[in-house]
Amino acid sequence: MSQVKQREVVTSATVEPLTMRGPADTLVSLSVNRIARLVTIEPRVSLLDLLRERLQLTGTKKGCDHGTCGACTVHVDGRRVLSCLTLAITCEGREVSTIEGLADGATLHPMQRAFITHDAFQCGFCTPGQLMSAVALLEEGHASTDAEIGEWMSGNLCRCAAYPNIRAAIREVRDAAGGHRHAAD
Ligand code: FES
Ligand code: FES
Repeated sequence: MSQVKQREVVTSATVEPLTMRGPADTLVSLSVNRIARLVTIEPRVSLLDLLRERLQLTGTKKGCDHGTCGACTVHVDGRRVLSCLTLAITCEGREVSTIEGLADGATLHPMQRAFITHDAFQCGFCTPGQLMSAVALLEEGHASTDAEIGEWMSGNLCRCAAYPNIRAAIREVRDAAGGHRHAAD
């Protein structure tokens, strides 16, 4: 038997066939705001569309739908992601947190309270994404200075230009948590 023929024999005997999912509808299991969800979706469905269209969690906003505005920011396993650029199928077995899960029942998250205190929104369209990013920002330790806050919040656009107020809200929560390092702008 030739070397080529031997390789063919070994390959076909040892390699497991790839298990593909899709392009037909496929079952995906994930947790959203600590509630287990089992959904049947096309593999091409974004996490944003799953949340808004299938789970009726419309707090997460669709602004640009191609990764430039930040309105669709949610957390996956505690890390902020753009849900419009995240395939829902990649969240299999993961914990997704959205704006609807940020408050503790009727008790607002400190960042939500600070946004209200500092008037950190006008129309409110960008606000869910701003809040999810702001909460992650503090977890990441990227809020030492106003410049750092500005840099690490730069993926979240606000057409109403509430940026100074958003930074003030973030500073308040940071300082309340003992992370004050820089004077306000
Ligand atoms: Fe996702 Fe704009 S809707 S970044
Ligand atoms: Fe209107 Fe930010 S509050 S876009």
